[in-house]
Amino acid sequence: MKPPSTAVVALVLLVVVAQYAFLAAAAAGPKVIIVGAGMSGISAGKRLSEAGITDFVILEATDRIGGRIHKTKFAGVSVEMGANWVEGVNGDEMNPIWAMANGTGGLSLRTFRSDFDHLSKNTYKQEGGLYDEKLVEKIMERTDEVEESGSKLAGTLHHSGQQDMSVMAMQRLNDHMPCGPSAPMDMVVDYFQHDFEFAEPPRVTSLQNTQPLPTFNDFGDDVFFVADPRGFESVVYHVAGQYLRTDRNSGAIRDPRLKLNTVVREISYFPSGVAVRTEGGKVYRADYVVVSASLGVLQSDLIRFKPQLPSWKIVPIYQFDMAIYTKIFLKFPTRFWPEGPGTEFFLHASERRGYYPVWQQFEKQYPGSNVLLVTVTDDESRRIEQQPDSETMAEAVEVLRKMFPGKDVPDATQILVPRWWSNRFFKGSFSNWPIGVNRYEYDLIRAPVGRVYFTGEHTSEKYNGYVHGAYLSGIDSADILINCAKKKMCKYNVKGKQY
Ligand SMILES: Cc1cc2nc3c(=O)[nH]c(=O)nc-3n(C[C@H](O)[C@H](O)[C@H](O)COP(=O)(O)OP(=O)(O)OC[C@H]3O[C@@H](n4cnc5c(N)ncnc54)[C@H](O)[C@@H]3O)c2cc1C
Ligand SMILES: *[C@@H]1O[C@H](CO)[C@@H](O)[C@H](O)[C@H]1NC(C)=O
Repeated sequence: MKPPSTAVVALVLLVVVAQYAFLAAAAAGPKVIIVGAGMSGISAGKRLSEAGITDFVILEATDRIGGRIHKTKFAGVSVEMGANWVEGVNGDEMNPIWAMANGTGGLSLRTFRSDFDHLSKNTYKQEGGLYDEKLVEKIMERTDEVEESGSKLAGTLHHSGQQDMSVMAMQRLNDHMPCGPSAPMDMVVDYFQHDFEFAEPPRVTSLQNTQPLPTFNDFGDDVFFVADPRGFESVVYHVAGQYLRTDRNSGAIRDPRLKLNTVVREISYFPSGVAVRTEGGKVYRADYVVVSASLGVLQSDLIRFKPQLPSWKIVPIYQFDMAIYTKIFLKFPTRFWPEGPGTEFFLHASERRGYYPVWQQFEKQYPGSNVLLVTVTDDESRRIEQQPDSETMAEAVEVLRKMFPGKDVPDATQILVPRWWSNRFFKGSFSNWPIGVNRYEYDLIRAPVGRVYFTGEHTSEKYNGYVHGAYLSGIDSADILINCAKKKMCKYNVKGKQY
C-alpha cells in the first residue's frame, strides 16, 4: 500500500479538527425544543442544524412525521388523506416543494398535472345527465372575468386592510351573485373556483389577501397531483434525512432527538428559559421552544401556555380561520363513470351548495382501481365527520346514481373519510385568510412571545395554507430564533407594522 501523502494526512487532520470544533460549538450552543414534526417543524430543525444549533429535541404527538401530509393504503393503492398537490408550478420562481418532488435529489415522485380545462364538458345535473357545455363555459368565463376584476380591485385597496372586503362583496360589485339564491350550476362553478381551493365560501374569504394569490402568482398556475407509493410525505422525510440520523434501508428516522408519541400539554416560559410538559408528565427544559402545531390546535386548549399568551397574540390566532377540507375516497367493484382524455374531474351541481360537489377519477394515477375521490369542505365536512361512514357512503352513492341515471351504479365496497377537524392534533386542514384580519394582525401570529417561537403554514409570510408555505415558514421562524440566539438580535419587528 502506498503511504498517504502529506496532503491526505493534512486533510484527515483538518476533518478531525473540524468535527471537534463542530461538537464544541454544538455543546456550547443553545438548546431548543421543537413542538411538532410536520413539514414546518422538520424544516425549522434543518435550518437550526445548518446554523450549528444541533442541541434540540423534536416532540411529536403522533407516531410519525409529516403531520398534514399523510398517505394511507386504500383499496390496494396509496392515497393521500392530507395534502395531495404541489401547487404553483411552471411559473417565474421555482416552488421549493416542486424542486424536491420533481428534482434531481433522488426523490422524483410520481406526479400528474391536473387539467381542469374540461369541466364544462363534465358538469352533471342533480337529476342526472350533463349540462350543455356551452352554457357551463359561459358561466366559467364570467367567473374568470369577475376574478380578474377582483384582483384589480384588490390592488387598489389601502394596505392597512381597512378597505378589505369579502370575495362575495367583490362579486356583488361585479353584478355576479352565485351566492344565491342561484342555480345549482352557478353555485357549483363558484364552489369549484373558491371553496375547492380555500375550503371556505367567498362570503368568508378576504379579497385583499387572496387575489391574486401569491402561490400562483410567484410559482405558476399549474398544480401537480402526487400519486406515489412512497407518499407525498416523502418530501418531509427528504428534508429530515438531511440532518436527522436515518436508516439507509428502511428510511426510518433513528435519531434520538426525534421523540414520537409525545404530546405537549404545557409550555412555561421565563426570562431565562422554557419548560415543556408532556401528557405523560415528562418535562423538557431548554433555552427556546418553537411551536409548529396547527392554527386549529393553537385555537384549542391542547397546549396551555404559562403565563397565558398576551392578548395581542391570542386575538389574531382566534380571529384567523382554520378551514376544513375532506377527501372522501370510494371503492367500487365496477366502473360506471367515463374515462379518457378530459374526464378526470367532474362536478355535481346540487341545489344544496357544496353537497358532494367535486369528483375525480383515477384512470391515470391508479389504473384499474375503480376508486373515486369526492371532496367536501366546511359545514359539509363537519357534518360528515360526525356521522358514521356508512351514511356518508350511502349519500355519495345516491348522488352518483342520480348523476348517472342510465348506468348500473353498484354499491361502493369501501370508503375512507379522513377526520382532520375532530383530530385534536390538527383541528382542521389548513388556514384560510378571513376578512377582518389585516396584514399586521396576521404577522403577529408568527411573532415570538419571549422565548416561545411560532412556525407552521399559518405563519407563512405569503403562502399560508400550503405545503411550501409550511416549509418556508420553518426556515423563516428558525432564522428569527437564530438571530436572537446567535446575534443577540432578539427584538422582532413585525412586518406589517409599516402600514
Ligand atoms: C385534507 C388536506 C388537503 C390539503 N391539500 C393540500 C394540497 O393539495 N397542497 C398543499 O400545498 N397543501 C395542502 N394542504 C395543506 C398542507 O398539508 C399544510 O399546509 C402543511 O402540511 C402544514 O404543515 P405544518 O408543519 O404547518 O403543520 P402540521 O403538518 O400540522 O404539523 C404540526 C405537527 O405538530 C404535531 N402536534 C400538534 N399538536 C401537538 C402537541 N400538542 N404536541 C406535540 N405535537 C403536536 C402534529 O401531530 C403535526 O405533526 C392540505 C391539508 C389537508 C389537511
Ligand atoms: C420534471 O422533471 C423532469 C425531469 O427532469 C423534466 O423533464 C420536467 O420538465 C419537469 N417538470 C416540470 C413541470 O418542471
